[in-house]
Amino acid sequence: MAFPRNTYDGKLIVIEGIDGAGLSTQTAAVKEALEHEGYKVCKTKEPTDGPAGAVIRLALTHRISLTAHSFALLFAADRMDHLHNEVVPELEKGTTVICDRYFFSNMAYQGTELDRAWIKELNRDCLLPDATFFLDVDPFVSEDRRSVRHRTEYFEKRETLARIRKEFIDVFEEFETRHDARIRTIRGDKAIMDVTREIVNDVSQLL
Ligand SMILES: Nc1ncnc2c1ncn2[C@@H]1O[C@H](COP(=O)(O)OP(=O)(O)OP(=O)(O)O)[C@@H](O)[C@H]1O
Ligand SMILES: [Mg+2]
Repeated sequence: MAFPRNTYDGKLIVIEGIDGAGLSTQTAAVKEALEHEGYKVCKTKEPTDGPAGAVIRLALTHRISLTAHSFALLFAADRMDHLHNEVVPELEKGTTVICDRYFFSNMAYQGTELDRAWIKELNRDCLLPDATFFLDVDPFVSEDRRSVRHRTEYFEKRETLARIRKEFIDVFEEFETRHDARIRTIRGDKAIMDVTREIVNDVSQLL
């Protein structure tokens, strides 16, 4: 299976990790830092605010119940719409797109319950990112960070997150070896600024 390569003018940068790893913080900080250097950048996230994303959100907040299969299918549907409606049009304009979560999350989260090969198949027509950053944190760290919040989302149990973290490591190894993907693992327990600097230094080599 060969995931399509990005042949557009803009680069697709993905930030991944377990809940509370600092994905949203870094997506915003990296965008700001790259803009400061004069690049045209937009940030976006999955699940999106589109129709499939809205259903996913209902399930993440326990208002409806979905099976692991339905989750995987909805995430893939949401991603196809996201690429078609938002990501590709920006890449065509030459904009650098920074995406908070992508199909690696799909494979790591649903991969704890389902056959990963099937999830990969669902995502086979999705662009391979130009660079992916895995913010690796201990589930204890992410739990501490999240303890200030009130809601607990569907996947946010420490033992579950520990399994998902292992799954991420496995998925990234597979994408590096079999799909020649550019993956960088960064310790997410460092100071916010230091994490941002590491990502920006690496992305700068691509732009
Ligand atoms: N490197 C860091 N060191 C200390 N705290 C951090 C760091 N990065 C993020 N945080 C804090 O941890 C909390 C979670 O960060 P953030 O919302 O960016 O995580 P996330 O990965 O997007 O989480 P979610 O899965 O809920 O979307 C926030 O309060 C943020 O300020
Ligand atoms: Mg977030």
